[in-house]
Order: sequence, then C-alpha cells, then structure tokens
Amino acid sequence: MDLHLSGSVVVVTGASQGIGFALARAFAAEGARIAICARTPSRLEAAAATLRAEGADCLAIPADLTEPDACQRVIDTAAAHFGRLDILINNASTNVDRTPKSLEDATDTQLTERFMGKTLVAIKASRAAIPHMRAAGGGRIVCIGGTAARSVFRGGERPSNGSGLPQGLGNSALCNFVKHLSEEVAADQILVNVVHPHLTRTGRHPDRVANRAAAQGISVAEAEAQIAANFPIGRVIETDDIAPLVLLLASRLSGAITGQSITIDGGALRGVAY
Ligand SMILES: NC(=O)c1ccc[n+]([C@@H]2O[C@H](COP(=O)([O-])OP(=O)(O)OC[C@H]3O[C@@H](n4cnc5c(N)ncnc54)[C@H](OP(=O)(O)O)[C@@H]3O)[C@@H](O)[C@H]2O)c1
Repeated sequence: MDLHLSGSVVVVTGASQGIGFALARAFAAEGARIAICARTPSRLEAAAATLRAEGADCLAIPADLTEPDACQRVIDTAAAHFGRLDILINNASTNVDRTPKSLEDATDTQLTERFMGKTLVAIKASRAAIPHMRAAGGGRIVCIGGTAARSVFRGGERPSNGSGLPQGLGNSALCNFVKHLSEEVAADQILVNVVHPHLTRTGRHPDRVANRAAAQGISVAEAEAQIAANFPIGRVIETDDIAPLVLLLASRLSGAITGQSITIDGGALRGVAY
C-alpha cells in the first residue's frame, strides 16, 4: 500500500530515542522529510546522524518543549526549513514512571507533571502547527497517549509499582483535547487522533523490570516473563509495533478518521472500548 508520505514534512517531538525515534525512522523509510527534537543535544544529533546515514532528510532541533516559546519555535523552524508542514506527531513526554503509590502520597507537582510535560506540550505544538497545515491545504496530527488513559492498574500490575494516576490524568486529558481539536479543524482537512501504546520496550523498560524484580525478590528474567505474561500476545509492545498505525493515520489515504483514540496493547486491556 502506498501511503503517499513521500515528500511530506513531519515533525516528531521527543524523537532522539524510543517510540519517537522509531516513528521518525518509519516516516523516513516512506520518503518523508523529518524534523526531530529533544532536550539533550548529543543524543538528538546521534539520532539524526543515524537517520541521515539511512538516507533521511532530517533536521534536528534541540529544545525543551516545556519552555514557554519552545513549541512555537520548533514548529516554525521545521516549516521554514522544509517550506511546509504536513504532519505533527506529539510524542514527547518526560518520564514519570516513579510515581507515588497513592493519591495521599502524591504532591501537586507529581499529579500535574505528566499534564505539564506531555499534554500541554502537545496542545501548544498543535496550536503552532495549525496555520502551517492550513497553508498546506490540510494536515494530520497524531498524539501518542498511553493506556493509562483507559485503565486503572491494580497494585502489582504496573511494573514500576507506582500509581498510574499522573499518567492517567495526562493521557485522558490528551484524549479530550484531541476530540475538541478534531472538531475545530476538520473543515480545514486537518485530522487529529490519539494512539495509546501499552507498556513498550523503550529506554524506560529496563528500570521497570529491575524495579519489579527488586520489589518481589525475583530475578530480572522472571520479572520480564511476568510482565510478558500480562499480554495475551505473549510479549510486551515493541517500538516498531506503534509505527504502522501512526503512519496510516498520518497518511492522506486516511481521509475520514478523526477524533479517535486507538489502543495498541497486545490484548492486555480487558475493557470493551466503544
Ligand atoms: N514506553 C512505554 O511503555 C509507553 C507506554 C505508553 C505510552 N508511552 C508514551 O510514548 C511516548 C514516548 O515514550 P518512550 O518510552 O519512547 O519515551 P523515552 O524513551 O523516555 O523518550 C522520550 C523522548 O522525548 C524526549 N523528551 C522528553 N522530555 C522532553 C521535553 N521536555 N522536550 C523535548 N523532548 C523531550 C526525550 O529526549 P530528552 O530526554 O533528551 O529530552 C526522548 O527523545 C511518551 O509520550 C510516553 O508517555 C510510552
């Protein structure tokens, strides 16, 4: 299937590693031109060098997206460099895996950290992208949420042991934002969706496995096996599992899917979402 992504200009936020990097690489493999950003310049440049070595036309923009004007600057820089902007992937998020065990333990900062470090960043980047997408005759915004938007994890289910409340607050607010924005910009042919990965093997994963192993007094291999057993497909999600859906939603082929929240969980969530 030709996704018609060749030549499209894509911004992927938080793309120096993990899911963002895998997405940038997948877009580049389809011939898209990509701008990536992250806070740590050395890791960002290393990621860009890898993508360029694979043939990508890749611009690296160092930025801490939580700083007041950073989202606007990143989007405008990418659009000016490539002459247009077609697709925005809101992926960046600070890692808040070490969350408190309960609401009573949580500080206000911990409760709002995911919203401020992810949801508000996605909102501001989207706002900055809309005029460029209108000028391009349409666009696609895909936000990377997380299954905490849809599920409350019982003690022991989360490998990190902490409450998923901060992640849930941030990711469910992201869904609400996506639905609102999809209404606002549909007539401009800008389609907006959110994809929720479940536990995915990124740089965050080894810590989670180690935490579970330490908490239960088991080996790392046993902890890994326990986590995998929670997935009916028999394994955790890999970063390359996220790309096919995100690329399809970002494609011009997908001209009528908007305002939707779609989960990639290997069957792990048991609720019926409709
Ligand atoms: N991994 C999972 O199990 C999982 C599950 C559900 C949802 N998700 C979601 O998927 C997305 C990616 O997760 P991941 O596991 O791939 O994350 P990751 O490996 O921790 O990578 C995060 C990326 O975002 C960048 N970043 C973080 N804060 C930033 C900021 N303030 N400004 C600019 N860039 C920033 C990081 O680079 P710097 O640190 O250099 O800035 C890095 O490139 C996140 O939205 C996460 O919530 C992940």
